[in-house]
Amino acid sequence: MNLFDVYPLFDINIVKGKGRHVWDENGTEYLDLYGGHAVISIGHAHPHYVEKVSKQVATLGFYSNSVINKLQQEVAYRLGRISGYEDYSLFLINSGAEANENALKLASFYNGRTRIVSFARAFHGRTSLAVEATENPKIIAPINANGHVTYLPLNDINAIETELGKGDVCAVIIEGIQGVGGIQIPTPTFMQELRRICTDTNTVLILDEIQSGYGRSGKFFAHQYSGIRPDLITVAKGIGNGFPMAGVLISPMFTPVYGQLGTTFGGNHLACSAALAVLDVIEQEHLVENAAKVGTYLMEELKKLPQIKEVRGKGLMIGMEFDQPVKEIRSKLIYEQKVFTGASGSNVIRLLPPLCLNMEEAQEFLCRLKAVL
Ligand SMILES: Cc1ncc(COP(=O)(O)O)c(C=O)c1O
Repeated sequence: MNLFDVYPLFDINIVKGKGRHVWDENGTEYLDLYGGHAVISIGHAHPHYVEKVSKQVATLGFYSNSVINKLQQEVAYRLGRISGYEDYSLFLINSGAEANENALKLASFYNGRTRIVSFARAFHGRTSLAVEATENPKIIAPINANGHVTYLPLNDINAIETELGKGDVCAVIIEGIQGVGGIQIPTPTFMQELRRICTDTNTVLILDEIQSGYGRSGKFFAHQYSGIRPDLITVAKGIGNGFPMAGVLISPMFTPVYGQLGTTFGGNHLACSAALAVLDVIEQEHLVENAAKVGTYLMEELKKLPQIKEVRGKGLMIGMEFDQPVKEIRSKLIYEQKVFTGASGSNVIRLLPPLCLNMEEAQEFLCRLKAVL
């Protein structure tokens, strides 16, 4: 059997990782400024993570959601404390798309409505309603195109006022910082007005922090730069440092109903032990602060490079927009300079390194980038 060929692959087989580096099967070392698509938060093969996950798999890897799971309770307690959302509840699932599906479902159960507002260039996942809320017609299959979603321009308060003023919008879903869309940042004023209008119209505000959350932006959540509190927050990627896991943080305005949400694998013992190890390391190694510090330095230095048209970002979520397609630059970075980066569309390079990237590694990256520009 062949693999279903949907990924355009680099011709590299990564077999090992440690900290901010990965190695291919020939022993070549790469600097990882991509974090396996913003997934590696605390670094590859962190010893504490390895120990906790190994011990858990040797004890109890899985049991179902029909019994008490104290590890889930601990994740909820710790996540509430570190994020400033102690009064919210947590529902655990396995992927980002699933987190958004459950958030949208909760919103619709809450106010009984069926219309969703999303934004130009948004990405929310590849399943049912999550893909419909993703503004990319190429990945919305006819079966997903059910007319639930209206896409508005980002940062356009008037457009929000008009659309939500109709009184029939179930939820607005917005990324803390757009990732796939090319590192587009909602302004604090827009977020504050969006919050106000959602409240006035009984519309649920969902913050997709799947890529921008878990410390990546230099705050625990990117929306915390605007001081608002959403009704639902979705997390995935960095929560498990590579172990598939996701969550919805749910405000106290929602009442849980037995059987309304559910999952076989979500929040299993192994996933929770990975999530707890991640929270331990984020706290002990001050990784949110590190992301803010190293990210600020990187952006200041990148802005000095005349070849780059615009640098956007916060913390270690950085976009470099060029006048020309970036394919060749990324190719040279990976094959000649041994640096992994991400892309958005044709002209933007995305940096999403592990949150433990240090100043020396940031400088090393800048040297290697300059060599190819
Ligand atoms: C903002 C955002 N939302 C949702 C998703 C979907 O997450 P997953 O691929 O885990 O389903 C992604 C993945 O890139 C994302 O960046």
